Amino acid sequence: MANPERFLRPIPAVGGISSAGMSDMRRFIEGLPKAELHLHIEGTLEPELKFSLAERNGVALPAATIEEMRAAYDFDDLPSFLAVYYEGMSVLLTEEDFYDLTYAYLEKAHSQNVLYAEIFFDPQAHTTRGVRFQTVISGIRRAQEEARSALGIDTQLIMCFLRDLSADSAAHTLEAAADFQDWIVGVGLDSDEHGNPPVKFREVFAAAREMGYRLTMHCDVDQENSVGNIRQCLDEIGVDRIDHGVNAGEDDELVAELVRRDMALTVCPISNRYVTDGTKAAQIKDLLDRGVRVTVNSDDPAYFPGYIFENLVVLQEEAGLSRKDLVRLSRNAFGAAWLDDDRKAGFLESLDAFVAAGQD
Ligand code: ADE
Ligand code: ZN
Repeated sequence: MANPERFLRPIPAVGGISSAGMSDMRRFIEGLPKAELHLHIEGTLEPELKFSLAERNGVALPAATIEEMRAAYDFDDLPSFLAVYYEGMSVLLTEEDFYDLTYAYLEKAHSQNVLYAEIFFDPQAHTTRGVRFQTVISGIRRAQEEARSALGIDTQLIMCFLRDLSADSAAHTLEAAADFQDWIVGVGLDSDEHGNPPVKFREVFAAAREMGYRLTMHCDVDQENSVGNIRQCLDEIGVDRIDHGVNAGEDDELVAELVRRDMALTVCPISNRYVTDGTKAAQIKDLLDRGVRVTVNSDDPAYFPGYIFENLVVLQEEAGLSRKDLVRLSRNAFGAAWLDDDRKAGFLESLDAFVAAGQD
């Protein structure tokens, strides 16, 4: 169970700004106990680690320097991001690589007061390169366990299928995961949505549900038929959560249905800025005000610069969020976590203690 006092530890400096130089609102956001529900572990591969793994594994990279690499992170839509994202994975080969990747993220998340994270991984992006499923998941798992005991951060894993591969490939991946089911809480769906609607994976998601996995799917922002795809997730797949889903705000009946089902949306403002025409801060705030269980997350923070703290800061500043709104976002996230009621209650106690300490 989470320790309610954890938020009382000193606030570390972020992004080169000492905590003394931060605005009150930023300090509040930093201290807020957080849950991260939409984070691709492969999307946390920072250029510095990419270079060191490339050297360790003798892999050639297209960029000669970190600056050159960052300059190439110049996306204007989902496919242009995904091309760079998959290419970057070429340096991830051994269990140690997946351990290093995951531990680095967990240290960063801990420094931002993330108490709990549900982490996506993309096994097919590795097995299709000849890296074994077991290699991937064993490295991630070891980092989860060590971070739990060294840092006190709790995590669970969500296995994502790549929607631009076939439903058969997803079904094989579900089979390959069977030996590790105790390490995986749910399944998701990511990659390029164009021409790959939720119903393409109806059977494999039904099988996953039957096996006891929780279900989520990406409904990326401003895609072809975004609203229809969100509807499919609800009516044809029976998801437990939706990743992104911001376009739901365009349809009043759909918003009412999300509220009725208490369906969480895991939105990612900085990611939106890179793959659409802006952060969608106004639309996110509107969904929150209409009673949708909105949560804020970081998606692929090495590529869309900003972890959960920076995402909350951007949203707060652009949408004028109050402290109450920010607490609601954290409460929404702990409430939507795939945890039993006792563990949720432990985290919510940490949040209540933060609020009661007078910082609300
Ligand atoms: N894979 C990693 N990040 C993704 C995103 N934001 N959308 C779809 N697929 C992804
Ligand atoms: Zn995502």
